[in-house]
Parts: sequence; structure tokens; C-alpha cells
Amino acid sequence: MKILFLACLKPKTGNHTTAERIRSHIESAGHICELRHAGEFQSSADVNSLLSQDPPFQGALAIHLYRAGRLLLDVQLPFGVIFGGTDINEDVKVEQKRAVMEQVLRKARFAVAFTTKLKEEAEIHLMSQSSKIYLQPQAWHCKNVPNILIILGPNIDPVLTAEVKSAVKRTTGVFLAHERSQQEVHAAMKRSFAVVNSSVSEGMSAAILEAMHLRVPVLARNIPGNAAVVQHEVTGLLYSSPQDFLHQSQRLLSDQELRERVVRNGKLYVEEHHSLEKERETYQRLVDSLHSV
Ligand SMILES: *[C@@H]1O[C@H](CO)[C@@H](O)[C@H](O)[C@H]1NC(C)=O
Repeated sequence: MKILFLACLKPKTGNHTTAERIRSHIESAGHICELRHAGEFQSSADVNSLLSQDPPFQGALAIHLYRAGRLLLDVQLPFGVIFGGTDINEDVKVEQKRAVMEQVLRKARFAVAFTTKLKEEAEIHLMSQSSKIYLQPQAWHCKNVPNILIILGPNIDPVLTAEVKSAVKRTTGVFLAHERSQQEVHAAMKRSFAVVNSSVSEGMSAAILEAMHLRVPVLARNIPGNAAVVQHEVTGLLYSSPQDFLHQSQRLLSDQELRERVVRNGKLYVEEHHSLEKERETYQRLVDSLHSV
């Protein structure tokens, strides 16, 4: 089958990595999967002009019901969708977006949620089509004492970047580094005492799963996206305020038993719930379902 796959492909983001991985699952089952950046298209009409190519596409897939799935609404192809974190955590709060997502879900042959919580929320906010929503967690893969914090990542929001830069200048022990390739990030993680996620906006953290896979302790802000993968004191530590961040990081530094426990459980957790083989099987089975009438 020839499949069109739409996703937001900003370079070096978690989304991009996830999309590439899913594409490789589909291609390893013998299909052709053309991955395109959703931002290239304004409407279904733009997608339709791509679809007029030869050989014809037979199915489509999108990550993010709102950002990418809506581009498939007026396209004459069977399609499936994968929920993005912001679909349910943010976009659903805007009625016009919610209604579009509901339409996308109604037309889709299947939908995939990365966590039970996302699946449940989707069932509450979008008309219940629970039989269509499959749960497939994301797969992975992929001390020195004066502690320093290195902030890594692309500069996406210029206002936020300026704020971060000026805060970093006023602080000792905090450094800002340019974005790195995934390989370099992994190498840096392995040499770190812990990986911190301080995000206030929702999503699904591939970096946290990668850290668990690499046996690096995780310290993450307690927001639903992070709490879906980090269970406090079991697979990592969660914090809810700057004060609490200090407290939890001190514990991690001083309590070796705690550190070993979260690393062990984190590794088991990614192996059990985020395995590459299971993820591959799910997508290959779902893509096959686009074939039948
Ligand atoms: C941090 O966590 C948020 C929420 O889970 C996620 O969207 C983001 O991608 C994460 N970033 C990193 C670098 O872990």
C-alpha cells in the first residue's frame, strides 16, 4: 500500500522522532509511507493536489487530530489518526477545535492513544467511539558533585527563549546549550546524574522514556503528561514547585537506594509498556485495516 503520513515535523522534536519510528514500522511491513510536514498544507485541497500523483495513495495516517487529521477531512482515502498530547490537553478546550477533532475521529478508521489517560479523556471529550481508540504506548529507542543543570533544545518560541537566556545569565550552575542530535543527547544523558523535565505545557515526553531506557533517573514536573509515565518514587520523581524541585533532587542525591529503585523500575516500565516490537505490530495491523472495505 502507498500511505501518506502527516505530522508536525519541526526538526529535532519528539514528534519528529516518533513519526520517523512509526514510518519505519510501516515500511518494514512492505508498504510505502510518505511522511510529510502538516505545516506544508493549508487545507484538504492542498492535500488533494498531492494525492493526484501517480502511483496513487491508498491510505493515510496523521499524528494530531487537530493539527494534521483535519487536513484529511475532505480527502477520499481511508485514514487513521494518532492522538497528539496537545489534542486532548489543550486543543479540546476550544469548542471549534474540539468539534473538528470529533469529526476527524468519526471519519477515521482507527485512532491510537499513547496513554490510558489520553484514551479516557478522548472518550469523555469527543463523542464516544471507544472501540476505535487503541492504546499503544510509545516505544523506546533508543556524579559529579558541584551539580550543574544544562538546558538543551531548539529555540522554538523567541519570547520564551529570551526569557530563559536572561534567567540563565543571573544564575550560577545553569547553562544553555544548542540543540543536539538525538545521538548526542543520549550520550549526554548517559553521563548525567539525572534528566529533568520542567515543562509546563502538555505533551508526551520521549526524552523521559529515553532516560529510563538508558537507566538515568528522571525528575519531572508534576503535570499530567509527565505523570502518565513517571510514577512518583516508583519510576522517577515528580515535583510541583521550585522548592519541591530542590527537595526531590536532594533526595535523589543522598538516597542511593531510592536512586537505584527508580532506575530499575523505570527500565522495567519502558521495556514492558513502550516496547518497539509491540508498537511495530500495532501499526502494521492497523495499517492493514485501511485496506479492507
Ligand atoms: C517534557 O515533558 C512534556 C510533557 O510531558 C513533553 O511535552 C516534552 O516533550 C518533554 N520535553 C523533554 C525534553 O523531555
